[in-house]
Amino acid sequence: MCGIVGYVGDKDCADVLVDGLKKLEYRGYDSAGIAVFQNGEIEVEKSKGKLADLENKMKNEGKPSGHCGIGHTRWATHGEPSDINSHPHGNKRVSIVHNGIIENYKQIKDFLTGKGYVFESETDTETVAKLLDYLYDGNPIETLSKMIDKVRGSYALGILFKDYPDTIFAVRKESPLIVGLGENENFIASDVTPILKYTRKYYLLEQDEIAIIKKDSVKIVTPENEEITKEVLTADWDVDAAEKGGYAHFMLKEINEQPSKIKTTISPRIQDGMPYLEESGITMEMLKNSKRIFIVACGTAMHAGMVGKYVIESLARVEVTVDIASEFRYRNPLIEKGDLVILISQSGETADTYAALKLAKERGATTVSVVNVKGSTIAREADKVIYTHAGPEISVASTKAYSVQLSIMYLFAFELAYAKEKISKERCMELTKQLMEVPDKLAEVLELKERCQFIASRLVNAESLLYIGRGLDYALSMEGSLKLKEISYIHSESYAAGELKHGTISLVTEDMPVIAVATQSNLLEKTISNVKEVKARGAKVTVICKEGTEIGKDVANHLVTLPAMEDMLMPMLAAVPMQYIAYYTAALKGCDVDQPRNLAKSVTVE
Ligand code: F6R
Repeated sequence: MCGIVGYVGDKDCADVLVDGLKKLEYRGYDSAGIAVFQNGEIEVEKSKGKLADLENKMKNEGKPSGHCGIGHTRWATHGEPSDINSHPHGNKRVSIVHNGIIENYKQIKDFLTGKGYVFESETDTETVAKLLDYLYDGNPIETLSKMIDKVRGSYALGILFKDYPDTIFAVRKESPLIVGLGENENFIASDVTPILKYTRKYYLLEQDEIAIIKKDSVKIVTPENEEITKEVLTADWDVDAAEKGGYAHFMLKEINEQPSKIKTTISPRIQDGMPYLEESGITMEMLKNSKRIFIVACGTAMHAGMVGKYVIESLARVEVTVDIASEFRYRNPLIEKGDLVILISQSGETADTYAALKLAKERGATTVSVVNVKGSTIAREADKVIYTHAGPEISVASTKAYSVQLSIMYLFAFELAYAKEKISKERCMELTKQLMEVPDKLAEVLELKERCQFIASRLVNAESLLYIGRGLDYALSMEGSLKLKEISYIHSESYAAGELKHGTISLVTEDMPVIAVATQSNLLEKTISNVKEVKARGAKVTVICKEGTEIGKDVANHLVTLPAMEDMLMPMLAAVPMQYIAYYTAALKGCDVDQPRNLAKSVTVE
């Protein structure tokens, strides 16, 4: 949420900043701005709207010219998107870009107003900019150190002080920030994607560390101004991974990357045909002794957890509770030592999931995170981390991250079931073998593109949709429904098919299309009965099922037939037509698929 970039070096700073912000735009895109030292003065350009609006503004009015500066792309928290509320904030002495939320901004604002400061924007960020101005006594480290004491909340800050025209200062608490280490040039950024073009080396800034970044040096100090020696990390994502690569949208590219990303995620975790999570510190001993399991996450990641619950419970016979992180953290959950809490997060920075992790640790549970972004907060702070290898997910709507999360849920369930002696080694090997076949089967499913495009053309004018399923198909329909609504803005709900008659079926008319997922053989007849019920009330029904399933014309208006696999693994295949249908519906409607309104990736605020 909100993207920060900073550059100091020989290149044209404004160009590098804008290029970097393009890579970070998925984190927020309601306004953007940059501040650059030009002839020793801080020059600011900012604009409401997408980065393209800022670029146009600079094309017309001229861009600041210099070699040291900071930039920001915003997702509004305090104050509507507007030129005034855009970052950078500050004045001619100090200018800042900020990601996070300042909790005590009101007190700071009142205090500074009392000192004669006048505020222009509605943002919490401006209070920090003005506070820095108030505290500044010519010594940036002392000033930042005092600020750290006074400010409560989360922040990643990039800061320019007029007296230091060749230096970027940076500090963070809870919100992520890295320092990119180039040849005769250095960077700050919210994640590695903007720096990959120039360097793979970076430092991960820790809580309250202050970075002093010049063209040819980077120094990291504590608030007490003691120098810290840090490990240089190397990013392993490709430069191309953050480019569209010929696809119309990142989402479409990421849907198509799923077979290879699943392969990269599971291959290193399979040894001699058996799941092997030991490299992530998940030992057979630990699995054998685990009592209850809690899976905690938000949005799509939580939907992956729902699939995990069904699979773990049915195979390993261990009780699993799935929680939405923002509920879990405030419901005083009954967790204790011996419980295993699994936190799933693509970004590894989601505020509610992180809070859930801290709570679980406080209560003595063992925590395991399933995370895509290397070195992210949730990855680092959980007792164990299982990295998914989806590469950077740029589209705000999550697709490939979901699939790799599912693949880890399966491996985990297989190994747990074996450790608990609920399945034999042969059965465990058989299931693992089938999981390894998923990427090839998925390549076939990706060929269903045109079928899904056609179905999307029938949904595009709908005002509301219903997704139904039972068991694993219900878990999957939750994700299908979220995907559609978040990018196409068509209202949709997912419902357990058997629950429809208890109220929701009253919504069904010929104007409400229904998408039914029916991949589970033991539930097929029941689901089909429910489909017939909605069909009888005029609904146009799309059924997603597997090869060999007999679905009559009286049941479905449209069919999507998937290659057959063991029922338990069908969600891995059925996710793709759901993603395609959502994608093509949104694209046909002309929606901004990769950057849907009001949303942003990496939700670092509550
Ligand atoms: C939906 C989507 C979100 C995220 C959720 C959690 O397409 O992407 O629902 O899944 O915000 O984010 P992470 O996985 O980064 O914790």
